[in-house]
Amino acid sequence: MTHPNIVILTGAGISAESGLGTFRDEGGLWAQHRIEDVATPEGFARNPQLVVDFYNARRAQAAEATPNPAHLALARLQAEHSGQVLLVTQNVDSLHEKAGSTNAVHMHGALASALCAACEVRWEAPLTMHVGEACPSCSRPTARPDIVWFGEIPYHMDRIERALMEADIFAAIGTSGNVYPAAGFVQMAAHVGAKTVEMNLDPSATVNLFEEVRPGKASETVPQWVDSLLSD
Ligand code: OAD
Repeated sequence: MTHPNIVILTGAGISAESGLGTFRDEGGLWAQHRIEDVATPEGFARNPQLVVDFYNARRAQAAEATPNPAHLALARLQAEHSGQVLLVTQNVDSLHEKAGSTNAVHMHGALASALCAACEVRWEAPLTMHVGEACPSCSRPTARPDIVWFGEIPYHMDRIERALMEADIFAAIGTSGNVYPAAGFVQMAAHVGAKTVEMNLDPSATVNLFEEVRPGKASETVPQWVDSLLSD
């Protein structure tokens, strides 16, 4: 194949070696916080301070983090590959951007962004958000973190599904395969005949759906995979 279309899905595991905790590994974020409390619209309605504090802490931690060789390798692939590369991330950190990727699609939102719950305008989030902050557009006190919570619809699904329909290669990196719709992307790609590859430390919940599995740390497996693609 001369110019294969590549779709890449990343999850928390790609940022683990940059010091950002994953969700479901031992001692991960969901062992320390209840999803219902910090990652649902109902939790935000009940206790907005708890939710804003949770994402402020994550934003502060992410601001200090630097990309690792896996993020850098994907940016290199995007720059050097002759075909299309769509980089889709479930991560809310900015490590793909810090690595030089300009067009990562943040399907679960971004810590760097604030959203007006009333008029849906977005703006750059301050490092520390406050409950009841005014929207710069409609002035209502309805600012919230621009994060897709459980029960909400992930962003950019049309664009992602279109790319999956035309994918020649689909790779999932550092994701446990527990959260849909992202966990279903491998089936969509396989359905149109794409070659599928998983790069994860532990086998994901959907590992059996992948044609190829490259186990290990993303900082090692991803640069190797990118080298093999670029030398093909
Ligand atoms: P998880 O925490 O569920 O899974 C992280 C995966 O990364 C695990 O399967 C680990 O084995 C793997 N992993 C850990 N360290 C790694 C490393 N150094 N190299 C490669 N793999 C490694 O995180 P996600 O699958 O991203 O959503 O979680 C998906 C969504 O669930 C998140 O976007 C978040 C969460 O709830 C929302 O908050 C809406």
